[in-house]
Parts: sequence; C-alpha cells; structure tokens
Amino acid sequence: MALQIAIDGPAAAGKSTVAKRIADRLHYIYIDTGAMYRAVTYKALKNNMDLNDGPALAEMLRHTHIDLFAGRDGQTVILDGEDVTDVIRSPEVTNHVSFVSKHPELREVMVDRQKALAAKGGVVMDGRDIGTRVMPHADVKVFLQASVEERAERRYKEQIKKGINTPLDELKKEIALRDERDQKQLQKAEDAIVIDTTSLSIEAVTDKIMDLIKERVRSQ
Ligand code: C5P
Repeated sequence: MALQIAIDGPAAAGKSTVAKRIADRLHYIYIDTGAMYRAVTYKALKNNMDLNDGPALAEMLRHTHIDLFAGRDGQTVILDGEDVTDVIRSPEVTNHVSFVSKHPELREVMVDRQKALAAKGGVVMDGRDIGTRVMPHADVKVFLQASVEERAERRYKEQIKKGINTPLDELKKEIALRDERDQKQLQKAEDAIVIDTTSLSIEAVTDKIMDLIKERVRSQ
C-alpha cells in the first residue's frame, strides 16, 4: 500500500525524527519540506537577494534544483549540485528562513514541487502545511505540538550531541521567535490528529502514529 502520511507542527516538535522513523518502518520515502525552504533561503542569502521580494525569490526557486536523498544520518540535501545538508542548519539560515517562506509566490512554486514528490504515495512528509495544502487528501494527518520549554530542551540535547553548546535560554528564545514568525505558515488541518509530545518519548510518539496508520489501513 502506498499511503500519504502528513506530519505538521511547529519548530523542534520532533517532526523530522518521528517522520524518519515512520518512513523507515514502512519502507517509505521521507521528505523534509523544511529542508527545502532552508535550501532556498541559503541560496537567497548567498546571492544577497532582497528577502522582501517574493516574486524574485519565487523566480529564483523556479530555476533551482533541490534534491533530497536518504542518507545514513537522515536526509542529504543537494542544492544545484552542492551538498548543503549541514549549512542549511546554520543559525544564519534558521534566523532568515521564515522571511523567505512567508511569501505566497514562493510557496506556490514549492507546494507544486512537493505535491509532485508526494503524488505516487508511499511518502511521509513533514512540515507546516502538509495536511492542508501539500497533501490535503493524505491518509493520515498528524499535528505534533509540545511546549516551548520541552522543544528547547530537546534541541539542546540534540546540539550537545553534535558538539554545539548554545545556552538553553537562547534556544528557548529562538524557538519562540520562530513560532511567532511562522504563524501564517503553520496550519493545522481540521482532520489532523493532535499529539502533544511534551511528556512522550520519540518511541511513544512513533508507536502512536503507527497505530493510526494501522487503523487507517484496516478501515480501507
Ligand atoms: O522544519 P524546519 O524547522 O526545518 O523548517 C524551517 C522553516 O521552513 C520553518 O521555520 C518555516 O518557516 C518553513 N517551512 C514552511 N513550510 C513547510 C516547512 C517549513 O514554511 N512546509
């Protein structure tokens, strides 16, 4: 069966970790749509583009190749032939991505691409508008949420493992700021199942979503 699974939620809610695990279990393709917005932001910054110019950003995206490959430690992101997997996670990109992703002209181009990637099914996609715009007919829609404190703590632990030591307070501020800037981009589908992951482990969240998927398959 080639289902479409949509996972939406705010920054650092655990979407990508969970989405990756679900995709692995089902042998599906995992698509991190945030990485696509990050890649185009990286290119805009590199080319000193005006981040307020939505039409110009959309036009640039039309002439940009973004490829996602399943790597051993997650997704490898190739932008016009350049491996940008790590650089798109830099604070510079993180702090500017919402200003790029907010433009409707750019989103239109991006959503069309993401729809094409999802068309055949057998995909787990995570982002902000997957259940509403990219895969409005997804078989399973999940909306993950967690408190800012919890999300900051998770990000902190994740970064410590990578040898990055950003103070917890700073991460909390960053996440709260991105919530504010992503208000328009983040849309919960009416038929999405909300899972508050604040006191749940990654395994527990993954199991919950797997149960929803099994239920859905049984009812088909
Ligand atoms: O998921 P991640 O935090 O990496 O996403 C980076 C940014 O990309 C978000 O802060 C948001 O501005 C944008 N985004 C979006 N729509 C999506 C996925 C991400 O606008 N579907």
